[in-house]
Amino acid sequence: MSSGQETPLVGKPLPSQLSPTCPGHGLAGVSESGSPQAQSRHLTAQMQSSLQPLCLSLETLHRVKGRMLEAMERGLSRRTHSQATVRMLPAFIRSTPDGTERGKFLVLELGDTHLRVLLMELSGDTDQRVTMEDQHFPVPDAITQGPGEKLFAFLATCLWEFLDELHMPQTDLELGFSFPFACRQTRLDQSYLISWSKGFRCPGVEGRDVVALLQEAIDKQDRYRIKVIAVVNDTTGTMMSCDASAGPCEVGLVVDAGTNSCFMAEARHVEVVEESEGRMGVVTEWGSFGDNGALNDVLSPYDHQLDQASLNPGKQRYEKMIGGLYLGEIVRHILTELFSGRTAPARLTEGSFQTQDILEISDEQVGLATARRVLRALGLEASDQDCFNTQQVCSAVCIRAAGLCAAGLAAILSHMCRSRELSRLKTSVAVDGAVVRAHAKFRQTLQQLVKQLAPECDVTLVQAEGSSKGIGMVTAVASRLAAQRRRVDRTLALLQLSHDALGTVQALLRQEMELGLKKETHASSSVRMLPTYICATPDGSERGDFLALDLGGTNFRVLLVKVGSRERGGVQIVSEIYSIPPHVAQGPGSQLFDHIVECIADFQTKQGMMGQTLPLGFTFSFPCQQTSLDQGILLSWTKGFNASGCVGQDVVKLLREAVKRKNHFALDVVAIVNDTVGTMMSCGYDDPSCEVGLIVGTGTNACYMEELRNVGALAGEEGRMCINMEWGAFGDNGCLDAFFTPFDRQVDEASLNPGRQRFEKLISGMYLGEIVRRILLELTAKGCLFRGRPSPKLQTPDIFQTKFLSSIESDGLALRQVCAILEELGLHVSCEDSVLVREVCQVVARRAAQLCGAAVAAVVEKIRENRGLEQLAVTVGVDGTLYKLHPHFAQQVQATVQQLAPRCSVTFLQSEDGSGKGAALIAAVACRVARHQRA
Ligand code: BG6
Ligand code: GLC
Repeated sequence: MSSGQETPLVGKPLPSQLSPTCPGHGLAGVSESGSPQAQSRHLTAQMQSSLQPLCLSLETLHRVKGRMLEAMERGLSRRTHSQATVRMLPAFIRSTPDGTERGKFLVLELGDTHLRVLLMELSGDTDQRVTMEDQHFPVPDAITQGPGEKLFAFLATCLWEFLDELHMPQTDLELGFSFPFACRQTRLDQSYLISWSKGFRCPGVEGRDVVALLQEAIDKQDRYRIKVIAVVNDTTGTMMSCDASAGPCEVGLVVDAGTNSCFMAEARHVEVVEESEGRMGVVTEWGSFGDNGALNDVLSPYDHQLDQASLNPGKQRYEKMIGGLYLGEIVRHILTELFSGRTAPARLTEGSFQTQDILEISDEQVGLATARRVLRALGLEASDQDCFNTQQVCSAVCIRAAGLCAAGLAAILSHMCRSRELSRLKTSVAVDGAVVRAHAKFRQTLQQLVKQLAPECDVTLVQAEGSSKGIGMVTAVASRLAAQRRRVDRTLALLQLSHDALGTVQALLRQEMELGLKKETHASSSVRMLPTYICATPDGSERGDFLALDLGGTNFRVLLVKVGSRERGGVQIVSEIYSIPPHVAQGPGSQLFDHIVECIADFQTKQGMMGQTLPLGFTFSFPCQQTSLDQGILLSWTKGFNASGCVGQDVVKLLREAVKRKNHFALDVVAIVNDTVGTMMSCGYDDPSCEVGLIVGTGTNACYMEELRNVGALAGEEGRMCINMEWGAFGDNGCLDAFFTPFDRQVDEASLNPGRQRFEKLISGMYLGEIVRRILLELTAKGCLFRGRPSPKLQTPDIFQTKFLSSIESDGLALRQVCAILEELGLHVSCEDSVLVREVCQVVARRAAQLCGAAVAAVVEKIRENRGLEQLAVTVGVDGTLYKLHPHFAQQVQATVQQLAPRCSVTFLQSEDGSGKGAALIAAVACRVARHQRA
């Protein structure tokens, strides 16, 4: 009970911000306008002490809320679920109405004595019009007591009689079934009856799935094509009945004879179900809160008396303080004490106060008259003071119920706010049931106290429109979700690759590699297989200071690389990142190279190296035809570059000319290398078995050590040479056409280089976001996203960058964070939207990783076969933002390689220092060789 310092809601004056909810403080009967009738009466000391046990302070309600939260957590956790007092049953509802539901839906609502059949039609347009037709059928005793088969046949018969009456055409209809008995629900359309109650006793049903039984009965009659798609609890029906236009309504509260609630929980917190994405409706079954003693310090002697005399002592303790079925009994126990010593108590027998009486008596306007009528009907000659006292008791009992209910509701709201990682939660709560409906004060108190108990939540209580409509809405939402799912599956199926398909990609690349290597067939291959003039990986004897440039990835870097002995720290790097604005990357070539030279000058000035001429290694991540190590003719621009006047030119020459134009300093370019080669060399410095270089970043490509005898363009039979495959262009000759989806074609057509780099456009970071965006546009057009309304933001090309794809897929990322990422992009998404966006990202990234894996498998298998080995152990040096930052990409690449190249044991080694280091090492080797040649 409340301590001395606490602020009682009943019994003592309240702080002004609280609604006066205590006897004597503005409650019913004590008119605030100070009517003479009210002033003539007062709360006697005896009344005060009788009502004191019902007095709950705000602090106490906070405690109750805290315990409810704990009980909810126990119900949600897999470990404690089975023993939890608040059972938190999953209702398999994944979404609330979004206003786009449309069509005709049937509802069967089985009540104690009647069956209600309802046909609901939803317009699905902006103002979502709902029309309903219904019919009630009495359920005869012969049915409630007869065999289960008869009951379900009866339900099916009522259904077709109803539809016949409406002259319904024989179209397909979907049905929601309200079956108000204790069930173990395992799916939205699967629910096993645990036990009958409420006078039903139909043998052969307990332990069976009632949806299957109903479906069987409907199918047997073969009159209408009806599919039962949902079985629903009345509390979820309440939540779902609310109008979607007023904003989300994600909580349902019923205070009728009993009490229960439901809300949309984060699916990953509902541990008893497998799903971890999105939301899941949970029915709390909170009536049994307190059955483990959690409410012991709140229970009054009247509650104990009521409980003892009840059919289920010790059970449903929370419900017994709130549910309408019990309020009358609590009042009776208090009045028995108040009237003790008079003849009255004997007349106050069990059931003498009905819920309706209690609610009416609490009413400020008519309450006293009702009290007199009710007491008189019991044969009591009641004085004015008696009537006044009775009214105070009724009010106190109702207000306490509202307070306790508010504590439970606040627990739900705080849980939602916390688990969604929100600082504020805004939601409507759909309320229903005789107690809330009939008692305005109950609602007001509930609303005010929830505000105080969960101040972080903006809550609006909304009167529900009856559970039948809600059940229809559950059915309509399930139907919408299923239809959307089918459309999503159909769309994404285009991007799912089977093991065989990946094997085909591997074989095709292998074929293209062979064609590309041979002089005669080179021109017909889409992969260029460019010689690099690098014939060995580093051996650790390289030494000296080098300058390096690294152009073509996310960043342009200038580096100073000091290569020393391993004992003296090996390779040390100082570098500076410079930006290359798009207008420079896509402007005149001279401007691009001038810019590069300015960056070098800036770097040298910063490093105090002006005037020094160090040998320079140039990582240039574009396809170049080389005839020597220090010369490279640009074959084509790729990725975001398109500077004019460069294709067909020697890039080293373009750089030297720019240096001359600027007249700053001299440059000694000794090597031009592709980033794949730089990466292989950089990793090769630490691991001599690194004979493949792989890049999955802005673009994608690989290089590997090929036998010189296989390189048709070059003379020489002995030894190996690193080949820059330029696999980004794989498929440019049409050999991959069967794998391109419409989305890939759109991305290709809108790119800087249509028809080129087709394989790269399926895999690399520069394009994945665009593929995702195109799919999202398609899914929006199909009504599966953004309620079918295309957001102007989504029309913006390139809004999805690789970093967003990577962060959206991060493990354990709450949906809220996914939403936040999307909001950052200016996309306003619902929870379901963000689940779907994440799924699309997953599918697109998985395909990319698998295709990349298939290509790596082709490369390592070729190396193995070249060497005539049964088994090959090889290391692949890897770099690139997508590979490094995406949470699953690397693992998916590796898994695919393992599947497709089982005879190769492949280690993936991530490059830590970028390709610049590799370029410097290559420059070091070149300098050493040159020295030897001079000597
Ligand atoms: C880096 C290299 O390590 O990887 C770059 O130094 C290369 O030259 C890059 O292009 C690839 O990654 P991204 O993601 O920057 O394109
Ligand atoms: C593009 C370039 C290629 C580079 C790759 C990775 O495919 O053409 O040379 O290696 O991107 O950056």
